[in-house]
This record gives sequence, C-alpha cells and structure tokens, in this order.
Amino acid sequence: MLCDGRLVCGCADPYGRRVLGDARTSSIADAWSGPTITGLRTDLNSGGSKFCGDCPLKLPLKRDEAPPVRPLDAGRLPGRMFIECTAACNISCTEAICAPETGITRTRQAGMLDFDLFKRVMDEVGPTLGRIDFFNYGEAFLHKRAVEMCEYIKANFPHIYLYTSTNGLAFSEEQARRLARSGIDEVTFSIDGANQESYEKYRQRGKLEVAFRNLRAMADEKRKTGRDLPFLNWRYILFKWNDSDEEMNRARSLAAEFGVDRLCWEITDHPESAYSRRFVPGTADFEAIRPEIWDQNNLGNAIPGATPRAKIDVRTLIGGLPIIAPRRRSVRVKTRIKNLSTRPFPATATYGRRLVRLGAQLCAADGTLLNLDFARADLPRHLEPGKEADVTVTLPAVDTPGHYQLKLDMVNEGVDWFERCGSETTRHNLWII
Ligand SMILES: C[S@@+](CC[C@H](N)C(=O)[O-])C[C@H]1O[C@@H](n2cnc3c(N)ncnc32)[C@H](O)[C@@H]1O
Repeated sequence: MLCDGRLVCGCADPYGRRVLGDARTSSIADAWSGPTITGLRTDLNSGGSKFCGDCPLKLPLKRDEAPPVRPLDAGRLPGRMFIECTAACNISCTEAICAPETGITRTRQAGMLDFDLFKRVMDEVGPTLGRIDFFNYGEAFLHKRAVEMCEYIKANFPHIYLYTSTNGLAFSEEQARRLARSGIDEVTFSIDGANQESYEKYRQRGKLEVAFRNLRAMADEKRKTGRDLPFLNWRYILFKWNDSDEEMNRARSLAAEFGVDRLCWEITDHPESAYSRRFVPGTADFEAIRPEIWDQNNLGNAIPGATPRAKIDVRTLIGGLPIIAPRRRSVRVKTRIKNLSTRPFPATATYGRRLVRLGAQLCAADGTLLNLDFARADLPRHLEPGKEADVTVTLPAVDTPGHYQLKLDMVNEGVDWFERCGSETTRHNLWII
C-alpha cells in the first residue's frame, strides 16, 4: 500500500504506475478479488498481461514453455503487505530511483499515510496477515506517527511478523528506544560505510553518527529492558569506496561493540559507476565473504565469531555402532551440544521464533533426505558461547524396516538451519529392524 492508500503489485513499482485498487475507496478484500487483479491473474495464467508494462520482474517464457497456472481465487485477503508511510526521504542516495530529485513524492496523492486509513486497513487485514514489511520507498520514520503505527500493529495483532528497513537518520534517540519497545520483530539499519567520508558518497547528506547513535540506542534499550526483540541487522551495501578490509573490519568491530545481532554485506550491481568491483560474484574476495552476504543464508554474520556453529555428539553409541530400533517404536537418542560461536543459543524466544533447537532429519542409507522435520529437541537452557548441554531427542516410530541415516543439525526456528551457514552436521546410521 502506497502512502496515499493506492495498492500496487509490490516494490518493483516505485512510481505507482500499476494500481490494483485503492484502500481509500474500497476494502482490501474487494481490491484483492476485484476486476483489475482478477483480470491480471487471468492474463498471467495465459502467458502475460499488458498491465505489467515495464515491470522489471517480468520473466520471458522459454520457447514452448507453458505459462504457470495459478488459482484465480487467492483467498479473501493477502498474507503479506508492504506498507509505505511516505515516499519522502531525508537523504539522497546516489542515482537511486527513489532519490528526492526524481520527483517520486509527486507520484503520490498524499505526502504521508493517513493514520485513520492505516488503522482501518490494519483492522481489516490484521487478523489474517502473516507479515508486514513496514517500508517501501522513502524513509518510513519521517512519518511522525510511524512508531505509533508499529505499536498499533504489535499491540493488536501480535502474531504478525513486523519488519522494517530504515536509514536510521530520522529518529530522535527516544524514538529509537520507543521503537525497540514496540514489539517490532526485526529492524534493519541501512548503513553503507564505517566512516563519514565514504558513507556519504552513497547516502548523500546522511550523518553517520546519527545512524550509529540510534542503532546503539536500540541495542541498548533491548539490553536494558531484557528484550530479545527486535532482531537488529546492520546491512552494509558494498561500493567501490567502502570495500577495503580496513573499513569492513571497522564495521565488524563497531557492530560487536553496539550489540547488533547481525552485520551483513549486500552485493549490488547499481549504480553502475559505484558498485564494488572487489566483491563481484565469482571473485576470490566474494567467496571469502560469501557466508556473510545478506542473501546467501539467513544466519551468516560478519561480526567475528557470531555465525552460529555447533558441535553435536551422539552419546548413545559405542564405537560408532548404528542406532538400532525396532519398527513402529520411538527411540531416544542422547546427544551433547557445544556452542562454538561467540553468541548464546537461546532456548526460548518471544513469539517462538529465533530460539535454537536440535533438529533430527531422516535420510535414506545413501544420504538422500526423507524427512527434514523428523524430530526436534529443546535445549535445557540458553547455551552460552563455549558451553555444552546434554540433549535427548526422541525419534518418532518408523514403519518400514531398513537402513537409514540420522542427520543432526541445530536449527534457529523460523530462520534457518545452521548447516546453511557452514556449521558441521553429524550423521549416524540408524537401523530399523
Ligand atoms: C530504498 S530503501 C528504503 C528504506 C529505508 N529508507 C532504508 O534506507 O533502508 C529500501 C532498501 O533498499 C536498499 N538499497 C538502497 N540502495 C541500494 C542499492 N544500490 N543496491 C541494493 N540495495 C539498495 C536499502 O539498503 C534498503 O534496505
């Protein structure tokens, strides 16, 4: 939803050219099943639509490829929404499509999202929405009531995963602290540099010390109030002027010092004149930081030692013998888990997301995965860096006798498996007799 209430396909439409409906004049349910969107769905099912215009997300069908057919009925309401508070921005990112000089704000019929409209939309979609991305173009927190909107969402619809991305420059310190207390699940600070001179080459007019102050304040507020949310990301786009080891290492140590949860590098290909040549995909330098790149996995972290890693030992076994279990009977497997990273593994977490558990996956004898979610076991307590805990996992009964493999990995619930960011898994033979 754009800040004037018009509904567009998504973030690939910065100037609001492909309008599907208008929350000012209809309900979201009516727009979601209205003639424009139904016509678009029908057209897409038959291979393409004029409505899409110059949308950069369009993919040509391959020769003789049939268009994928999706149901015309997409349910009563969407499951996820982007909400744009404003398209205005307090800085001007070099050659960005949403820089103020492009005139993006003139493509909106209102400068700021009306609070009553926001509430009406939330009250309609809130009960069934799974996620809100509380940003689009511009800087959401230039809206004087943006923090209040986040509070409204989490107070009334705590099941919604609320995420935002901000340049961190529009908050007063008190507002940053208030956002930390709002219940918002995840906040990304877009800070592309670790010194003022290089930072402002892309984030023109940005004051690095203000972004740092607010990031530090949010981390501090979390600590002081004993919260595990919001999860705080520092997302650092690599350009040719901020990609030296020296500056990246400075970001690593500042992120650790501030108490940021995750520092990640973003590899971009624009602007053409500015993207980092050093970290172009395929280069050795890219490979060296691959696990720390934003899109590569959900747990990799550029803060030294903070990428989650675990050692998992199976303790039931003598001399590597297989685990032997009768068919149709559950079996208990004793393990010892060691935290090899510099961050604790939380045993519990607000909203049940981002807690760490032991996951057992069932594989065939040749290693082929049969059941990713075969069994889970809780940690007995938060597992501090370097510490160990004994964990027993109960494997469900297997009907078919035979030779299997049991694969053990830690999982950050709702986020990712540790294996995806390089943590070693443990495999053992499992014979069902
Ligand atoms: C357009 S911004 C708007 C939200 C907010 N003002 C911010 O700075 O995060 C949305 C996202 O685009 C990302 N972004 C901006 N310039 C980019 C670039 N050249 N390449 C890749 N991502 C970029 C930002 O880091 C941010 O996460």
